[in-house]
Amino acid sequence: MPSSPILISSHHRVFVLTGAGISAESGLKTFRDSGGLWESHRVEEVASPEGWKNDPEMVWRFYSQRRAQARQCQPNAAHFAIAELETSIVDRLFLVTQNVDDLHERAGSRSVIHMHGQLNMSRCEDPDCGSLPFVDEQLYESKASFAVCECGAVVRPHIVWFGEQPFCMPEIEQAIQQCDYFIVIGSSGSVYPAAGLVSVIAHRRNCGASVRSIYVGPEAPNNARLFDEIRLGTACEVVPGLFAE
Ligand code: APR
Ligand code: ZN
Repeated sequence: MPSSPILISSHHRVFVLTGAGISAESGLKTFRDSGGLWESHRVEEVASPEGWKNDPEMVWRFYSQRRAQARQCQPNAAHFAIAELETSIVDRLFLVTQNVDDLHERAGSRSVIHMHGQLNMSRCEDPDCGSLPFVDEQLYESKASFAVCECGAVVRPHIVWFGEQPFCMPEIEQAIQQCDYFIVIGSSGSVYPAAGLVSVIAHRRNCGASVRSIYVGPEAPNNARLFDEIRLGTACEVVPGLFAE
């Protein structure tokens, strides 16, 4: 029996956090499902500062491949449903994604926080350079083709690697304290700080706040016990009918 939609009133604030699962039905691999990205690549080799230092060519090949794949994919019904929610509740929706693809934007979402970075952007590898990240659709296969910053340093993917600080944490920490609903779609709950956000909601509820957390995905995530509700199903099965006003 499908669960009833979440009734969003005229004052409710909704925090939506998406993970790789929301892009699965668009054809993009997740990380930890069978056949996922971390099955065919060693994380530390392609998604860490050490991996970049040891073999920048391998890192750029990994991200160039994902850049090319993401370009072939289209947003799905779940991405469109979230963009529609933003159209009706505007800035009462706080959308954060762990994904580095731009499928939320291509579905029409205008305010998207990419806490783990963006595939279609690059930046100077020198943190003291001060130049800004920039839109970059280039595919880099060998060192000879790498883009070089004006300061002379090499350009790297604008991705948050393991051991680096996710982006926009102050805004995320503020929004998690103020939302009335916290909805996570398609994330295994394996990577912090994203996986720890639901425990902030649980703490707020234990202190008397009337706030609810809901997980949407085909299987329960690692942090399932902290959610008020688990709605089992794929993003395209569940998200289009998830919200009602
Ligand atoms: N609809 C919804 N959820 C799905 C679907 C689907 N069609 N298919 C799979 N899922 C769920 C899986 O059940 C799993 O729980 O999506 C989740 C994907 O989990 P991960 O592969 O671990 O991806 P994610 O949680 O986003 O990873 C977090 O880890 O490697 C880092 O930086 C990377 O942002 C990533 C972070
Ligand atoms: Zn530079």
